[in-house]
Amino acid sequence: MSGAEAETDVGLGFVEKAKRVLPGGSFGNFPGEIVIREGRGGRVWDESGKEYVDFLLGSGPMLVGHAHPEVTAAAQARIAQGTTFFANNRYGIELAEAIVAAVPCAEQVRFVSTGSEADLYAMRAARAFTRRDKILKFEGGYHGMSDYSLMSLAPKRPGNFPQPIPDSAGIPKSLRDEILVAPFNDPDMVAGLVREHKSELAGVIVEPMQRILPPAPGFLEALRRITAEHGVLLIFDEVVTGFRLAYGGAQEYYGVVPDLCTLGKVIGGGFPLAAIAGRADIMAHFDRQAVGDDGFLMQVGTLSGNPVAAAAGLATLEILRRPGAYDQLFAIGRGLMATLTELLRRNGLTAQVIGEPPLFDAVFSGEVVRDYRGTLRGNAEMGRRFNALLRERGILKGEAKYYVSLAHTTEDIQHAREAWAAAIEVLATH
Ligand SMILES: Cc1ncc(COP(=O)(O)O)c(C=O)c1O
Repeated sequence: MSGAEAETDVGLGFVEKAKRVLPGGSFGNFPGEIVIREGRGGRVWDESGKEYVDFLLGSGPMLVGHAHPEVTAAAQARIAQGTTFFANNRYGIELAEAIVAAVPCAEQVRFVSTGSEADLYAMRAARAFTRRDKILKFEGGYHGMSDYSLMSLAPKRPGNFPQPIPDSAGIPKSLRDEILVAPFNDPDMVAGLVREHKSELAGVIVEPMQRILPPAPGFLEALRRITAEHGVLLIFDEVVTGFRLAYGGAQEYYGVVPDLCTLGKVIGGGFPLAAIAGRADIMAHFDRQAVGDDGFLMQVGTLSGNPVAAAAGLATLEILRRPGAYDQLFAIGRGLMATLTELLRRNGLTAQVIGEPPLFDAVFSGEVVRDYRGTLRGNAEMGRRFNALLRERGILKGEAKYYVSLAHTTEDIQHAREAWAAAIEVLATH
C-alpha cells in the first residue's frame, strides 16, 4: 500500500475498510454493517459505541455470557503457559472426561476445531464403521459446510425427496448420489428410505431440534428404532443443542441416545473447539491400532484439543454444572418466549414463537410448522423487517434464532420487552 493510500485508509470506517478487503464486506457470517467492539455478560457494543442486548451470543457459544470472569481467568492462565502444542494436553483430556461423564452416547471423544469438521468426520466414521457410503439428512438441517453437508439446507424450491439439492456452487455433482434427503418429523418417509437403501446407507444425521423446530413426539424414538433395525448409525448433530437443552444435550433432554454425536459452540467456551463423541466400537475407527489399515479413519488437525479452548470449555462446563443453572436458563427463556408471544398476539399479528426456552424465534405463520417447508410458508420478509427494527432498538440476534444466556439479566429482559413492543407496533401499523 502506498503512503497516500495508507493515509486515506485512516479516515475510513471499519465498514468501508471491510468492503475493500473482505468479499461482501464481511466474514461471511453476519451483515458487515455491524462491527462488534466488545461483549460483557448478555450485552455487546459495536465500534460506534451502540449497545445491544445480545441474543446472537457469538452464534451460540457464549451460553454463560461474554467475558465471564471464570472463563476469562481460565483462558488467560493457559495462554501464559503457551497456546498450542499439537501433542496431548491435560485440559483436553479433562474436557474429554467431562464430555464422557455428561453426554449419554459419549464413550470416547475426538476433538476438532469446528462443528463443520465434527460433522464431516462423524459421517466418515459412520461410513468407516458400516462400510457403506450413503448418508440420510433432513431438509433444512444444518451440518456445517462440507460438500456432503451442504445439501438441501435451504433450497429455494422444494425438490423431490430423497434427491438432495446442493446449497452452494463448487460441490461435485457426483456427491448428489451419496446423500438422501427426507422431511424432518416424517418417520414414515424415513422408514421407507432406510428400508429401501439399507444395504448402502451408513448413517442418518439429524439436528435433534432442527434449527428452532422441536422434534414431534415420537420422531426421535422412531429414528432410533428404524436405524437400529437396519444397522444404520444414528448421528445427532448437537453442535447447537449440546450442553444447551440440558447438561447432557438433546439426547438427555429428549431421552433418545444416538450412536454418535457432534458437539461444538459451548464446549469451547468461545474458542475454536468441537468434537465427535460416541460409542467406543465406532470411535475405535480413529485408532489404527484398534481397527487396522482398512478400517482406519484418518483424522488430524493442528489445533485439535487446543489447551486454551479446552480450559475455557472446562470452566464453562463447571458453571453449567452448578445447581439451578439450567432452571435459570429455562426460566429466562420461558419468560422471553411468553412475552414475545403475548406482544405478537396483542397486536393481532399472525405469528407464533417456536423453539425451546434456550433458543427460539418468532415465525410469521398461522400454520403448524413441523418442517423446513412449513417455515418457508411463513412470511420471511416480515421476519427480516422485525429483526431490522429490533437492531435499531438495540437487540442483536441471528436471522432466525434467539439464543438465551445465563447472563441475561432482568434489565436485559426488560429492554427486550420494550424493543419488541415498539418494533411490533411498527410492524402492525406499517
Ligand atoms: C447444528 C450445527 N451443526 C454444525 C454447525 C457448524 O459449526 P461451525 O460453525 O463451528 O463449523 C453449526 C453452526 O452453526 C450448527 O448450527
